[in-house]
Amino acid sequence: MKKLISGIKPTGQLTLGNYIGAIKQFVKLQNEYESFIFVADLHAITTPQNKKQLQKLIKELVALYLACGLDSSKNTIYLQSENPYHAHLSWVLNCHTYLGELNRMTQFKDKAAKLKKEGIPAGLYTYPVLMASDILLYDADVVPVGDDQKQHVEITRRLAERFNNKYGSTFKIPDVIITSTGARIKDLQDPTKKMDKSSVSDKGVILMLDPIESIKQKIRRAVTDNDSIIKFDEKNKPGISNLINIYANLKDISIKETEEEFKKANYGDFKEAVANLVTEVLKPIQDKYHQIINSNIIDDILNQGIEKALPLAKAKCEYVSKKIGLGRP
Ligand code: AMP
Ligand code: TRP
Repeated sequence: MKKLISGIKPTGQLTLGNYIGAIKQFVKLQNEYESFIFVADLHAITTPQNKKQLQKLIKELVALYLACGLDSSKNTIYLQSENPYHAHLSWVLNCHTYLGELNRMTQFKDKAAKLKKEGIPAGLYTYPVLMASDILLYDADVVPVGDDQKQHVEITRRLAERFNNKYGSTFKIPDVIITSTGARIKDLQDPTKKMDKSSVSDKGVILMLDPIESIKQKIRRAVTDNDSIIKFDEKNKPGISNLINIYANLKDISIKETEEEFKKANYGDFKEAVANLVTEVLKPIQDKYHQIINSNIIDDILNQGIEKALPLAKAKCEYVSKKIGLGRP
């Protein structure tokens, strides 16, 4: 069976963007791939985090993975920081990465701009190398992510190819999987910007655990144009296009079919339909989440996950060390 790997940072409450761009894909693909889904807590600390809050978010993320339908018998679910081989391989790959290629990473440029006053951590700069290690450590065939992470999977491929050329075949070259609708869900108040869990204001952000009525309100108040035509045109109609993307993705239909369905509707009716669909999807997830977060299964699942991930990662790191000439002769 081919392998899949992906992770999410516990840096805030998960959004509808995380669900559509990432988790929904993990759930769909879990029957086709041997899946490794982790909590990227080492990536979380590339920007300043509060210790108590981080602990809470780690637990919540695991509960949400499960509530969304990740089956622990099909997925290896674990914490990145409980596996020291991620950081080990990251060091090795850092020694094979050029400053020039890290300088080109758009996520780094965006995040560094916001941290200018406090200082920019070196970990933020080498973030893509840790991500490459997460992926290459398990010989993953595919990496399902949202559009914003595509550049990081590309650098992963480049690092793997460079290493293979220098030391002989060592790493599998992974492919990115990006959903055709909803690869980048936008903020409902500023539809030119990604819906982001670290946004300052949450008016344009649908949190997966938001109260149902508040989700409906946010969608009803989503910024649109005023020409009253439900047509996908990201450049001229970013607000409506974003809602079309959300609807099409959650209903598993195409953009064209969505346009057809709402050919005669006005914006009010369309927003109501989007609001109903989003809450229909999120309500059962929320109910399941509340059962899980108050149970003991999270620890059991993480124990089971790390037990499986650790020996695989150890063996891969030993293989890599041998290839380079590290360790005892
Ligand atoms: P992050 O929140 O940065 O840890 O992202 C976790 C996963 O969710 C990654 O695969 C992201 O690409 C994906 N993701 C985050 N925000 C969005 C969004 N607004 N639209 C689609 N995918 C997203
Ligand atoms: N960088 C990803 C994000 O912010 C999270 C992540 C870390 C990841 N390591 C990964 C995703 C490996 C896929 C594979 O969204």
